Amino acid sequence: TVATTADLVAGARATGRGVAALNVIQLEHAQAIVTAAERCAAPVILQVSENAVRYHGGDVAPLAAACLALAERSEAEVSLHLDHATSLELCRTAAAAGFSSFMIDASALDDDENTRVTREAALWGHENGLWVEAELGEVGGKGAHVADARTDPADAADFVAATGVDGLAIAIGSSHAMVTQSAALDLELLRRIRSAVSVPLVLHGTSGVPDALVAEAVVSGITKVNVSTQLNRVMTDAIRSLLSDEPDVVDPRRYLRAARAAVEQQAAHLISLISRPTAA
Ligand code: G3H
Ligand code: ZN
Repeated sequence: TVATTADLVAGARATGRGVAALNVIQLEHAQAIVTAAERCAAPVILQVSENAVRYHGGDVAPLAAACLALAERSEAEVSLHLDHATSLELCRTAAAAGFSSFMIDASALDDDENTRVTREAALWGHENGLWVEAELGEVGGKGAHVADARTDPADAADFVAATGVDGLAIAIGSSHAMVTQSAALDLELLRRIRSAVSVPLVLHGTSGVPDALVAEAVVSGITKVNVSTQLNRVMTDAIRSLLSDEPDVVDPRRYLRAARAAVEQQAAHLISLISRPTAA
């Protein structure tokens, strides 16, 4: 069923769980993630980044329609979220296509500009019934490397009060697009931010975080957990190994089926880790 991100995040927070927000680039990702959520009997957020929309020629509608159709037919609760958006125009088309939330990413700007852009986006989002996420203290890995960035608890509280956002992405040591799970998280800082800030907290760059630390982060106050690279890594590994074992393959279904199965397996692992962190 189609859920809103607001409800999934609130539900997770109320029960001390996390909710997995897994990135979709193409149809096979969405199919695999929704099937994984059903297997785990847990909700999931399908998120599409502005970058992924760019890959699809700048039009969010085809991928949105696929995600929405899968969500409608699923036994699992599934919401649609626009990830790392810099354009309000894209937020508007995504909302019209069934997305219930977006992240406005102005984290590359200085803090004052970030606050101004984010406040405007949150105002607009709330007028349109959307759940709005923003970031303070840039999580690195997208171009410039700023894995050393840290979000200050008092600044975070001020930023949330000044912008009115519903969820806050914080920098506590993770970095985008890591292919090994070797990041260290500052859990002490996370707990301080958790007590300073009222809204749900979001972890970006989770692919680089060891499983046990992901579970600890949820227990220590992270609610929405974003993962992308891990899914792409298992997807690409599956394709590479199938094509090297069977170099004569022509039909894309042969390798995309293997890729989809690999993503489903990894997504199920992540959803259970994040939605039942104390079992980890
Ligand atoms: O917004 C998406 C996440 O932050 C994904 O990061 O690819 O490092 O898992 P990741
Ligand atoms: Zn991110």
